[in-house]
Amino acid sequence: MIFLSLKTYKEASGEAVIKLLSMAKQVSEETGVPIIPCAQATDIYRIKQELKIEVWAQHLDPIDPGRNFGWISPYSLKLAGAEGAVINHAEHAVDKDTIKQTIDMAKKYGLKTLVICETIKLAKQVTLWQPDYIAYERADLIAGTISMIDEEEASVKQLAQIIKQPLIVGAGISTQDHVKKTLRAGGQGVILASAVVKADNPKAKLRELANGFKYHAG
Ligand code: G3P
Repeated sequence: MIFLSLKTYKEASGEAVIKLLSMAKQVSEETGVPIIPCAQATDIYRIKQELKIEVWAQHLDPIDPGRNFGWISPYSLKLAGAEGAVINHAEHAVDKDTIKQTIDMAKKYGLKTLVICETIKLAKQVTLWQPDYIAYERADLIAGTISMIDEEEASVKQLAQIIKQPLIVGAGISTQDHVKKTLRAGGQGVILASAVVKADNPKAKLRELANGFKYHAG
């Protein structure tokens, strides 16, 4: 599976996100690989209404509806049509207690969760809190030219044996070889942003990456 992280890129905001995700929907149908957009909260309702695809939020806060000015409520995300949310992305990090509380609160409102961990130590702790997925991603490799799977292959293999949830690998994932190598190391999927969102031809790039799931044994 591919988590398509849309961040706040212009190419993935407002009307542009519909164009980008219509293309992602086609690639997903064509290849059979689930492609789950992690969208800005402001775009979730529109994505759900217009494209009828699974869509996740990039963040949520561990709150019930009420006096929480400016926070992102799991209840509201659910009403907007989100199926899940990412927790603890390096660009929106939270402390350990908050990770735990947020997983619990997401469950309360029927949202799936993917928790991003930068270290094996954190992932070992998070696995006990039972999110749906754990992603392994080093902040310094995000949007760079060196991929997490090339830089940390041994740790990915180790982590895949330790955690109970499917392991997703992120940061600098940009080629079909990165996808194949991730799957061979025991990962179940990738989370990526810039390689697709900033590509000259996002559809061709996404298709290349998705086809990595088909051919990874080769
Ligand atoms: O959310 C995943 C993201 O941080 C990876 O970004 O641009 O390295 O694919 P990128």
